[in-house]
Amino acid sequence: MVQRATEALNRTLPDRAVDPLSTARRVVGQAVSRLDGPSKVTGGATFTADIDQPGLAYASMVPSRVASGRIRHIDVTRAANAPGVIDVITHHNAPAMDTPVLMTLTAKGCAFTDVAPLQDDVVRWNGQAVAVVVAESQECADSAARLVDVVYDAAPARTSFRGLLSEAVFPADVLGEPSEVSRGDVEDTLSQAAFVVDEVYTTPPHHHMAIELHATMAQWSPGDKLHVWDSTQALGRTRHSIAHAVGVPEENVTVTCRAVGGGFGNKTVWDHQLLCVAAARVTGRPVRLVLRRQDVFRMTGGRAPTWQRVALGAAPDGHLQALVHDSVTGIVHENSPEQVSVPARHLYASDTYRIGQKKVVLDVVPNASMRAPGDSVGSFALESAIDELAGHLGIDPIELRSRNEPAVDPTEGTRFSKRHLMEAYRRGAERFGWPDRNRVPGARRDGRWLVGHGTASAFYPYIRMPGGKARIRITADGHAVVTAAANDMGMGTETVQVQHAAERLGLPLDRVSFEFGDSTLPDSPIAAGSAQTASLVITVAQAAEELKKVLLRRAPRHSALHGLKPADVVFRDGGLYRVSDPAQGVSFETLVGEVRHVDAVGSSPMLPLEFMKYSMHGYGAHFCEVRVDATTGETRVSRWVACIDAGRIINPKTAASQIRGAVIMGIGSALMEEGLVDSRAGRTVTASAADYHMPVHADVCDIDVSFLDIPDPLTPMGVHGVGEIGIVGVAAAIANAVHNATGVRVRDLPITLDKIIDGGAAR
Ligand code: MOS
Repeated sequence: MVQRATEALNRTLPDRAVDPLSTARRVVGQAVSRLDGPSKVTGGATFTADIDQPGLAYASMVPSRVASGRIRHIDVTRAANAPGVIDVITHHNAPAMDTPVLMTLTAKGCAFTDVAPLQDDVVRWNGQAVAVVVAESQECADSAARLVDVVYDAAPARTSFRGLLSEAVFPADVLGEPSEVSRGDVEDTLSQAAFVVDEVYTTPPHHHMAIELHATMAQWSPGDKLHVWDSTQALGRTRHSIAHAVGVPEENVTVTCRAVGGGFGNKTVWDHQLLCVAAARVTGRPVRLVLRRQDVFRMTGGRAPTWQRVALGAAPDGHLQALVHDSVTGIVHENSPEQVSVPARHLYASDTYRIGQKKVVLDVVPNASMRAPGDSVGSFALESAIDELAGHLGIDPIELRSRNEPAVDPTEGTRFSKRHLMEAYRRGAERFGWPDRNRVPGARRDGRWLVGHGTASAFYPYIRMPGGKARIRITADGHAVVTAAANDMGMGTETVQVQHAAERLGLPLDRVSFEFGDSTLPDSPIAAGSAQTASLVITVAQAAEELKKVLLRRAPRHSALHGLKPADVVFRDGGLYRVSDPAQGVSFETLVGEVRHVDAVGSSPMLPLEFMKYSMHGYGAHFCEVRVDATTGETRVSRWVACIDAGRIINPKTAASQIRGAVIMGIGSALMEEGLVDSRAGRTVTASAADYHMPVHADVCDIDVSFLDIPDPLTPMGVHGVGEIGIVGVAAAIANAVHNATGVRVRDLPITLDKIIDGGAAR
């Protein structure tokens, strides 16, 4: 079925149409500093929690103390009588709300829970809001929230992922792909292979720890109009989800979000926005609700725990004959599957394979997407196993990968739009000095430190979100303003879109600006899936084509442009010029004339059909050096090289920052981060920065980032996303380096010193 559809598409889709701008280098490709940099470092930028309103009231949520069951009794008397309290809302008096729309269920969904808050007495996870207190100050609200008396009828809860593994079942699908793919008799091939690795790898729950806490502010005005200021990475979807849940027409709702202090996949719609809107409705006041740090852990979801078996069977020359990746993830909704089996579907050729994932459903706060969901922890298992196999074979791990490079996508059979994995390894190995690495595990020592080196593949799907619009306005003084309701979470969206538009419109950088962050602007897709850049670039490119038409219609009768078609002209030097005679053209000033400005709107093509015709992924190679204290097992990362194949790079500075941040996040997952749940009450006990360890500056070395910068001929301007690919493979590279340093293989994240000592390395 899929194959037939693919063949049909191959006939009907145009072949590679390269964006002419994919090699342009005037503004694109320059290391422009973030335009929002000065405002961010001087405190000038306005985040949601900074915004004030006359008459502002403050809300605080009361989290449930049990993971499952019912509220037998809730008494708000003490809270309601506390100083400064305006109102207390529970399931007895909350406004009716509809079910939030799940993130991947529709193109407009934005939630990871499909349960509207405070609509019944059922408790579904420990930390779920059971009441919200509204008061005259944050302190009054927080203090009164502790005075809400709740008696629960607790029911048995499914909270121990490892205890429930035997109950794992296949989900209907994994993000639209089959939950398991296979070819040949993989177990039989495995049992006959000359070299075999067959191991289990496990990863714990991970939590988003964006510096900015989730914050929202809601204000109702006459005529059922609602304005929500929200820290969100999905402006349009947040608007839709809130409108749907509270039952007002979408056009009545405005969502504003100018700055976000980190999203990473969970600055989406959770209970707090809906409760803030409800609190504003009930009290008739503008209301602000900011999550406390522990609420981020218990009221918003993170990365699901995983259990993964990877079995590899190879011939003595390293040729892969069998590849098994069986996995289980602890999830709540099938549409957020923690897609750990994805890298194994696309990275290496194998004669036989079985790659799939099952789920166990847990009574915990629904897991969300967290930077490279699935791929990040899935690659820990796969890339550790590849390294283990290389060790058994006595083959360099890079050489082993190159011997199993697939000619076409290994499980889908489609051609690659581009694939430069081995080039990334070659370039990275050179920068790292891979030939000088330690070759015998445990053999290199520098004083008290055992020194080891490791490598692993980075990988991430190319995604372009369907839909979205952008507007370009050219003013009579020759400036361009691009507008789209996009999100800048600190990754440089504004900067790269200004670069892109300046290049496309033939303008200098300082003549272009980008307006974003408000739902009254043309709707654009969610900033997720590392897809925002490509998704915006294609809409802005469409708007630029529309702009050509509008400007040509305005070309004076006797001008060089009169009677020309869009294909006959290019944007250059602040105007439109003939393709056939580059000296002939008209400036924007002349074309716009007396009307002050000219607008054009472009829409993105709805269906990204290219995904069906080609295998489209980003690749990369991580290299690291670790130092493990021979006595204590303390592990430090001392060197890092990442070479990334993510298509054309619009801005090497902001892109490298993205990769660096992702590597740091990956170091956290490898060595520190571990969400611990008390399985008796299903309560996350690591709900603070003191208990949930993350890398700080002292834990991070210089991170050398380079890009191959080879355009993908099938994507807008040749770009791929760079937000997530950088974390994929990081934990494996560290695990491989720790093994190289100590001879101890740790297959359970995080790689803490107790596991290294138990493994027998340090003494
Ligand atoms: Mo990302 S985890 O798709 O915000």
